[in-house]
Amino acid sequence: MSGLTATSEWVWVPGASAIAREAGTTLREFFTQGVATEYKGDSDLVTMADRTSEKLIRERLAMAFPEHGIYGEEGTRDRMEGEFRWYVDPLDGTTNFAHGFPQFCVSLGLERSAAELAPSEGGTLLAAVIYDPMRDELFVAERGRGAMLNGISLRVSRTPELYEALVATGFPSRKRHANPNIHFYQEFTLRSHGVRRAGSAALDLAYVAAGRLDAFWEFTLNPWDTAAGILLVEEAGGQVTDFAGAHFKLDSREILASNGLIHAELLGFFDDLFAGRSLAPIPTPQEYAARRATQSGS
Ligand code: IPD
Ligand code: CA
Ligand code: CA
Repeated sequence: MSGLTATSEWVWVPGASAIAREAGTTLREFFTQGVATEYKGDSDLVTMADRTSEKLIRERLAMAFPEHGIYGEEGTRDRMEGEFRWYVDPLDGTTNFAHGFPQFCVSLGLERSAAELAPSEGGTLLAAVIYDPMRDELFVAERGRGAMLNGISLRVSRTPELYEALVATGFPSRKRHANPNIHFYQEFTLRSHGVRRAGSAALDLAYVAAGRLDAFWEFTLNPWDTAAGILLVEEAGGQVTDFAGAHFKLDSREILASNGLIHAELLGFFDDLFAGRSLAPIPTPQEYAARRATQSGS
C-alpha cells in the first residue's frame, strides 16, 4: 500500500491508514468544491466536511476494529468502557479549511487503558495516523515500532539550542481572552529563528516528529488534537511533557513537544515566563507611534 512500508509488523496502522486516506480524500473534495461554515462558538467553526469525515471514520473504524471505542471531536462516543479507544479529529485545521488555506489533516490515535492503572494515570498510546490530503503525506507510528512518513523513517531534529530553533504554537478558538499564549508567542519569537502558527496542532506535532519543527507548545488542546501526534514525536525520538516537565497525559491540555535536546531549556524558559522573569522589552504601540511621529517631524 502506498505510504506504508512493506513490514508486516504494523498491527493497527494499515487499517487506520486506509481509513485516514479515505477521510482525507473526502476532505480534499469538499475543500475543492467549497463548503458553508457554521459557528460552534464565537470563533469556533465547523463545516459539513468535519461531520462527513467523522461519520465515515466512525463507520470504518467500527468495521475494522469492532471491539474498539471511538471518541470523536464532533460528538462520537462509542464503546467508551472498552480497553482500546480511538481519538478522532476528523478535520484538524477547520479554520484553515473554511478559509481555503491548505493546511489541515485527519488525525487518529489509539489508546489502551490498562486495568491496573488509576484513571488519573491515563492509558498507553499504541498507534498514530495523521494524513495531510493536500500534500499526500501519511505520518504513522506504533509504540515500539517507530514512526514513518510515506514509508520513510522519521527522526526528530538535532537542533541543540532554542536560539537556532524553528518552533510552533497555536491558539484556541474558545475563551480566547483567558489565554496568555500571545505573551509566550512574543518571547519565543525574540529568542528563536521564529514561531509558526499554521493552524493544525496534529500537523504541528507530526512536523516535530519529522524534524521540520524543533518544538511545539499549546495551552488548551483536547485529546483528539494530540493523541496521534504525541506518539509520533515519541517514536521519532522526541519528548512530550506538560509545561512543568511532567509526563504528558491526554487530559493534560498543556503540551510541550520537542526534539528532546532543547526540552530542558524550554522548560526553564516556561518557568521564567510564568514567574515574570526574563521578559524582553519591546516598544508598546504608543511608544512606537510617538517615536515614529518624532522621526517623521525631524
Ligand atoms: C484546532 C487546531 C489549531 C489549534 C486549536 C485547535 P480544530 O483544531 O488544531 O491549530 O490551535 O487549538 O482547536 O478545531 O481545527 O480541529
Ligand atoms: Ca483539532
Ligand atoms: Ca477538528
